[in-house]
Amino acid sequence: MSEKYDVGLGNHNVTLRKNANSDFVSFWDNQAKNLHWFSPWNQTLDWNPPFAKWFVGGKINACYNALDVHQETKSDKPAILWEGENGDSKTIAYSDLFIEVQKFANVLKSLGVIKGDRVTIYLPMVPELIVSMLACARIGAIHTVIFSGFSATSIKDRIDDSKSEIVITADGGYRRGKIIKLKEVVDDAIKDLDFVRHVVVLERTKNPISISSKDKFWNNLMDDASDSCDAERLDSDHPLYILYTSGTTGKPKGVLHGTGGYLTHLYSTFKWAFDIKDSDVFFCTADIGWVTGHSYVVYAPLLHGATQIMYEGAPDFPDNSRMWEILEKYGATIFYTTPTALRMFMKFGDDIPNSFNLSSIRLLGSVGEPINPEVWKWYFKIIGKEKCPIIDTWWQTETGGMMISPLPGLETIPLKPGSGTFPIPGVDISVVDEYGSEIPNNTKGYLVIRKPWPGMLLGLWKNDEKYKSVYWSKYLDCYYPGDYALKDDDGYLWLLGRADDVLKIAGHRLGTAELESCIVSDEHVSESAVCGISDDIKGESIIAFVVLKDGIVIDESLLEKNIFNKIRIDIGPIATPKKIYFVKKLPKTRSGKIMRRLLKSIANGENIGDTSTLDDESAVTEIQKIVNSALN
Ligand code: WTA
Repeated sequence: MSEKYDVGLGNHNVTLRKNANSDFVSFWDNQAKNLHWFSPWNQTLDWNPPFAKWFVGGKINACYNALDVHQETKSDKPAILWEGENGDSKTIAYSDLFIEVQKFANVLKSLGVIKGDRVTIYLPMVPELIVSMLACARIGAIHTVIFSGFSATSIKDRIDDSKSEIVITADGGYRRGKIIKLKEVVDDAIKDLDFVRHVVVLERTKNPISISSKDKFWNNLMDDASDSCDAERLDSDHPLYILYTSGTTGKPKGVLHGTGGYLTHLYSTFKWAFDIKDSDVFFCTADIGWVTGHSYVVYAPLLHGATQIMYEGAPDFPDNSRMWEILEKYGATIFYTTPTALRMFMKFGDDIPNSFNLSSIRLLGSVGEPINPEVWKWYFKIIGKEKCPIIDTWWQTETGGMMISPLPGLETIPLKPGSGTFPIPGVDISVVDEYGSEIPNNTKGYLVIRKPWPGMLLGLWKNDEKYKSVYWSKYLDCYYPGDYALKDDDGYLWLLGRADDVLKIAGHRLGTAELESCIVSDEHVSESAVCGISDDIKGESIIAFVVLKDGIVIDESLLEKNIFNKIRIDIGPIATPKKIYFVKKLPKTRSGKIMRRLLKSIANGENIGDTSTLDDESAVTEIQKIVNSALN
């Protein structure tokens, strides 16, 4: 843990942290001034725990800050260098994006969308996804983007929860050379949702689709739309979007983000972490369906008038060199990706990246899961040629933006492979024990956030009680993110994975509860428990333990197949378990709670530790036998 890498960009801004430490509220007040406000706020923070309102009274628009503010100085500058998986490409200048967004904002208005309405977006990684989101923001509609890997049932649940009357989708999208038929999935999702009035269909792949009276084609609507639409002057805490994310219980919850605070957080972190310059070519590989895409593909780069690469497809298609080919082609200077992608690239071998000219790269980033030190070192040496800082950024859908990260745009500190280093200025983070007391250095504990921050979620969509209980009930007036962490003797933070039942599969966030309820809906199944086991590439993969109903005799491999299928239909292919173990009993405490921790240890081949609260030892013995025989 003491290995240090002295690589930075030579920035040494000490006053910023000093100001943040002395008064975090006026610190953020100053940061917010980097944005364009139609009218100023009269209160910086209204903290009514656990609800925070930032920049109260201020009027702002996210789309205006992303586009209008650049039209005088950067209208010809490329905003998006888009690369389709099938080899299509497009350069979209800030002025082009401005026109497209205004036209689509008028399209939304013509479909009856007004301020506060929800609009569901289920599109592949094409520029029209960004256009749709910004158009919503322009008129004050709340976008709710769904990752294109989710299934019809998942979409239905989300549309139903948000009551979106408008859905924007495409005939298809390319992924590993195949067409993912998004429109078909939407048709299935909305068949019983009568309140959905219109489906806007973008023609991306031109595969045949069935058309109903609700469907309208993107191009036809755009042909008739005017290219001028004023941005709404919105309250600072006007909701910008809902993004559904998995938690420990029940179905995914709608994380609700506001405008002024969220944009302030993004503007500042993008500058500090990526040291963004006008000449940079930024490339974040995240899909916009997840929060990294919302914050650091859509909003943050555009707030800064940056040029970025947007890629539609799989990183290993048509071959394993695709990422490096894109980086070289566009002369990328900043690359932000996931440990899962890096583990995959590392496995492909050094010769592939070594055969490309990656000399334009000056800064590297990682996000979404803990990065293994050996992967960090590979990234540093092979991709960064030992000259680029790596920022390991810890944050969550709920935090809106980065919370812990090296900040080469601000300061030069030694980096330690696998550590996120320090909290960003203006954010107060501790590592505590079960009772909320700070714990000694080098001891694993729970991460907590002690003060509100501007990117903080407004709440959960129409569910204040859940918001309070999920994030604010474990510790008094502290936000509980659900992560393990430790602080070393130099004060560096090390993120040690989830402390709850949230899984990170290839960086994708999934909850054990949603998987379990899908599995037990099979007529043969009585109980199920799901856990993650470590995976060389994906970080974690899913293992399910299943107890059959009394008297059921069935071909287990057939049932396993059926359950896999059901999960793909109900949630999506990303949630497919690696293996199902059929067992007679699940290990439970005397009060009847499933001991997932034990299952996880057994499935990972680890020592099972303390079993004093276990009700029936025989459950564990049987499971150990089954797992061991499968592993050997
Ligand atoms: C995990 C993704 C270690 C963490 C931006 C968090 C990380 C969850 C890191 C949120 C990191 C994210 N190191 N773990 N650098 N970044 N995580 O909502 O467990 O998809 O709570 O947001 O990812 O996942 P989410």
